[in-house]
Amino acid sequence: MLVREVKRRFVVVAQRALASGEFSLDDIASSGGRIDVPLRCLRAAMLSSHGLRPSVIVYLVLCGGEYAPRTIRFDGASVKFLRPDERALAVLVQKTLAAARAQGRAEAATGAAAAAFAEVKPGISVVSRGVDAVLDDVAGTRLYLVREGADDVRAARELGEHESTFFLGDDRGFDVAVTDELERRGAIALGLGPVSMHAEDAVAVLTNELDRRAFAHYGERGA
Ligand SMILES: C[S@@+](CC[C@H](N)C(=O)[O-])C[C@H]1O[C@@H](n2cnc3c(N)ncnc32)[C@H](O)[C@@H]1O
Repeated sequence: MLVREVKRRFVVVAQRALASGEFSLDDIASSGGRIDVPLRCLRAAMLSSHGLRPSVIVYLVLCGGEYAPRTIRFDGASVKFLRPDERALAVLVQKTLAAARAQGRAEAATGAAAAAFAEVKPGISVVSRGVDAVLDDVAGTRLYLVREGADDVRAARELGEHESTFFLGDDRGFDVAVTDELERRGAIALGLGPVSMHAEDAVAVLTNELDRRAFAHYGERGA
């Protein structure tokens, strides 16, 4: 029995993932500046084996190359056509970024500035900004900085009881400017165990911890 369904937000800050979307589908990882990392995090956060998680929102902050930074927001309550395989997600991101560029050109022609997220496909929005735009969007939620060596998630009180936003790094970890800003805003540091995992595995472990707390009586049958 589900005792609470509280919105969860995951933010993956991908330090060199191409914000242009101009990468090869035959070599997503190297031609995309390791954009495979945020794509796999998206799958881990948003999809269960039965489909979408409607109470999850994922932000992919793309900080590499031309047009950077750009952030794509996926809202589980309304997103469509999200498939679990990496290539399909890569195609979706490419189409989304191309549509956002076309929208941006139209705005530039009319002199309008896009400072906030604009929806380009159902449940998928883009802004030509980075972590600062995410922080505006998640105002009022509890902030968590997910990083190796921090206090154990299993000892974290009230985890999952409030609308929360979890920030994760990519294969290179975090930019110090991001961690400084999150610490300045009172983000709670959260550790997920003694071993440094791939970012998508960190999302999966954290999702599992949140699921355990969201469902009453889970585990009561004993070992
Ligand atoms: C591959 S790890 C980053 C490794 C990077 N070399 C570093 O030193 O930060 C990717 C991200 O997953 C998360 N992560 C991985 N293992 C973790 C752990 N044991 N505890 C908490 N977060 C973890 C963190 O957000 C991290 O930035």
